Amino acid sequence: VNDVAVDIDVPESRYLSDVLREDLRLTGTKIGCAEAECGICTVLVDGTAVVSCVFPAFKAQGARVETIEGLSNNGRLHALQQAFLDHGAVQCGICTPGLIMTAKGLLDTKSAAGEAVTEDDIRTALKDSYCRCTGYQSVINAILQASGEDVAPYIPETGTPGMAVGQPRPNPNALAKITGDARFTDDYRFPGMLYARTKRAGVPHARILSIDTAAAMRLDGVHSVLTHEDIPGRNAHGVVSVDWPVLCGRKVRYVGDAIAIVAADNDEIAAAALQLIDVRYEELPAVTDAIDALKPEATLVHEERPDGNLLKHIKVRKGDLDRGFASADVIVDQTYRTPTTEHLFLEPECSIAVPAGYDPTIFGGRRDDLAVRGDTAKHDKTTIYVGSQIPYSDRDQVAATLGVAPDAVRVVATLMGGGFGGKEDIAGQIHAALLAEETQRPVKMLYSRQESLMVHPKRHATVIRMRTGATREGKLTALEATLY
Ligand code: FES
Repeated sequence: VNDVAVDIDVPESRYLSDVLREDLRLTGTKIGCAEAECGICTVLVDGTAVVSCVFPAFKAQGARVETIEGLSNNGRLHALQQAFLDHGAVQCGICTPGLIMTAKGLLDTKSAAGEAVTEDDIRTALKDSYCRCTGYQSVINAILQASGEDVAPYIPETGTPGMAVGQPRPNPNALAKITGDARFTDDYRFPGMLYARTKRAGVPHARILSIDTAAAMRLDGVHSVLTHEDIPGRNAHGVVSVDWPVLCGRKVRYVGDAIAIVAADNDEIAAAALQLIDVRYEELPAVTDAIDALKPEATLVHEERPDGNLLKHIKVRKGDLDRGFASADVIVDQTYRTPTTEHLFLEPECSIAVPAGYDPTIFGGRRDDLAVRGDTAKHDKTTIYVGSQIPYSDRDQVAATLGVAPDAVRVVATLMGGGFGGKEDIAGQIHAALLAEETQRPVKMLYSRQESLMVHPKRHATVIRMRTGATREGKLTALEATLY
């Protein structure tokens, strides 16, 4: 691996990404989907680009494995790394190692064949590599530059020399992102750390009749199983309205609602424990459409809300509609629909909570294991490591559920592999904190891609009715719109 001989026993079921990330601690290789879709885990095996999250590690026996950490030479950047810097092809950076390794495979193959690299070659090589931030053109230009093409990085024509505005500035942590040094939450590991999973509702709307966690508690390697009865503070969170149960006790209101959380020695045991939690439901009709939800006969999602299923109604009025429509030559009346949209940040949600007073030496660690991001997080209070969009809101919501003051909780913002609005509502941070304080150990809560897609809020689907009046010359005279 990166020109160093590695001798390691692996079971047939172990993937190359696990060996690199967990056994060799080469965390520059990232995991986005764990099912060979996104390409951010790409490494080279004997010069061929492979998605390491599904590549059986034993197949690499005797092969030469290259990862992002092996690219620079004695501090000298590889041409691809330099070009990614020059072109600003690094943004959140979670995809960057995979893109660079895929490109290296292409450049090496072309160079061995004595062929030039074309833009078409690059587009073909990257067809299974996702990036959700850059828009790809800067990536393609960077790879062309590294292949020897004269592709000048974009420099705006405006801007005053010596002034910051209008001048290209390097992303301050781009260097760490192109060398594999950049650490996202899942790249951290603390001595004594446990692994957490969440029992999900699995049904869209139901009354909970019973929750039985006894069998899960008895499973070897399980340290804690918590339900709504174990929450010391507020059992609700939410950014717009605080109405989302941290752990449901009475009802579930969507398939991703959380019923119980488990902390165990490893992820496999935590997953097995979820299967042993028995939840009985009385299913209720699901409410799946905003317009139907307003009908008088609609099933109530939150029975206690004074406005029934209506969360908010915002009215905006300006001018004289009747006069506007009366003066129109044409009136267009149409209804439009937009679908629910997933943000698809490439880094699934991950939180690590460290309990107040944590001492790594108890677990065989060193005190300087606490060094994070170059500073020293003291862990004198409950500390959450998370790539968050709104860390102060996270802190307040974690504190409310723990039943402590906000300044008893610290949120350390790690790098975030994309969010796009999808990492504002939180749950994993609170769950990890509850388990960490209960077990008095660091707890990592990492979502699978499937869980991430199921659980986090999306951009809402909309139904938009628009009635627009206009003159024959094309001047708008009136607009009446209703948006659900
Ligand atoms: Fe590519 Fe963010 S920079 S996903």
